[in-house]
Amino acid sequence: MTSQPLPSVTVSPGSVEQDNCQAKHPLSLYKTLETGELVGRIEAVRKQLGDSLLILGHHYQQDEVIAHTDLRGDSYQLSQMAAASDACRTIVFCGVHFMAETADILANRPEKLESRGGQRVRVILPDMAAGCSMADMAAIAQVEDAWEDMSEVIDTDRVIPVTYINSAASLKAFCGKHGGIVCTSSNAKAVLEWAFERGDRVFFFPDQHLGRNTALKMGITEDQMPVWDPYEMELGGNDDQALERSRVILWKGHCSVHQMFRPEHVHQFRKQHPGIKILVHPECPREVNDLADVSGSTGLIIKTVQESPAGTKWAIGTELHLVNRLKAEHPEQEIHFLSPVVCMCATMYRIDLPHLCWSLENLRDGTPVNTIEVPEEVTRWSLVALERMLSVK
Ligand code: 13P
Ligand code: SF4
Repeated sequence: MTSQPLPSVTVSPGSVEQDNCQAKHPLSLYKTLETGELVGRIEAVRKQLGDSLLILGHHYQQDEVIAHTDLRGDSYQLSQMAAASDACRTIVFCGVHFMAETADILANRPEKLESRGGQRVRVILPDMAAGCSMADMAAIAQVEDAWEDMSEVIDTDRVIPVTYINSAASLKAFCGKHGGIVCTSSNAKAVLEWAFERGDRVFFFPDQHLGRNTALKMGITEDQMPVWDPYEMELGGNDDQALERSRVILWKGHCSVHQMFRPEHVHQFRKQHPGIKILVHPECPREVNDLADVSGSTGLIIKTVQESPAGTKWAIGTELHLVNRLKAEHPEQEIHFLSPVVCMCATMYRIDLPHLCWSLENLRDGTPVNTIEVPEEVTRWSLVALERMLSVK
């Protein structure tokens, strides 16, 4: 299968800087404001803009940001919310860059644009530095090189590329172009099943852990899951036989937050708190995931706690802000953070009240900042892969 390389830039830094240079209100001013004032000003803009503004928030956001969101969810739910958005003209996305890109693609798909007479929904990420270190572990040029290299050993017409939603839009577009699909932590198994109905193997990027943990549950063995290291010169560090017997080729990427959870933490909690249950995100390494009682998306983690009886004891292995929120919201249960060290997502944390207030007031006053707009060609093919995902039940 041949393809034209896709553009890898998904937001034009030039236009961002220009946007921000023209901003009526400079960010520096907001950093000096007291919390109470920021809260009042944010709420005033929300009131003024009404239904034309939709503030979405991922579960890892800080409580003080979550307090100003209209809707919150896991990555899959947030994609659905962006896809369903009707009344709004702007989405302010309190999350990370790949989520805002996905919202831009879904909120501005052709039928939605047509129904709005061609008017785009603007998607704003309050801090452009809110990226995802896992998404940064796979660049489009590396994925295209890997695809070409593996085609010398295996028939890539029978390989289905699957990208975790935590990836740049250009990788989603690669999947769209090559008969592939996007997955999230909440639908990874159903997506892999979809893929195996259409091909013999899956090329899964960028999170090796989600790929491995999901495939293991489907009966695929470690031996059938070679890891592709983009920094190895020859076949990602594999020999021909490893690729020939592969069912899932895993990209060597991970989440720096979730890799901090270790099996010894599980053992220690079970020893010190008899009866405790272990609840983790599938971005945790296999050794932790295998020991857990429950593993699932942030949405499933929340639902599991919400549906548990008073007195249930949990040690939860996911981002700190979410675990602390669950602890505060469920005093009737005993909730612990699974690691003795702080595991927080530093990029999610970049979205704070000064950035939110700054982006909202500039939006209201006609000098919007930090607009995420995915280039047309990337959008077209990413949408193919995202729509496939949304159609998987
Ligand atoms: P969820 O889709 O489970 O919300 O996960 C997103 C994420 O980035 C986890 O690290
Ligand atoms: Fe990315 Fe990990 Fe942060 Fe999730 S927790 S956004 S995977 S760095």
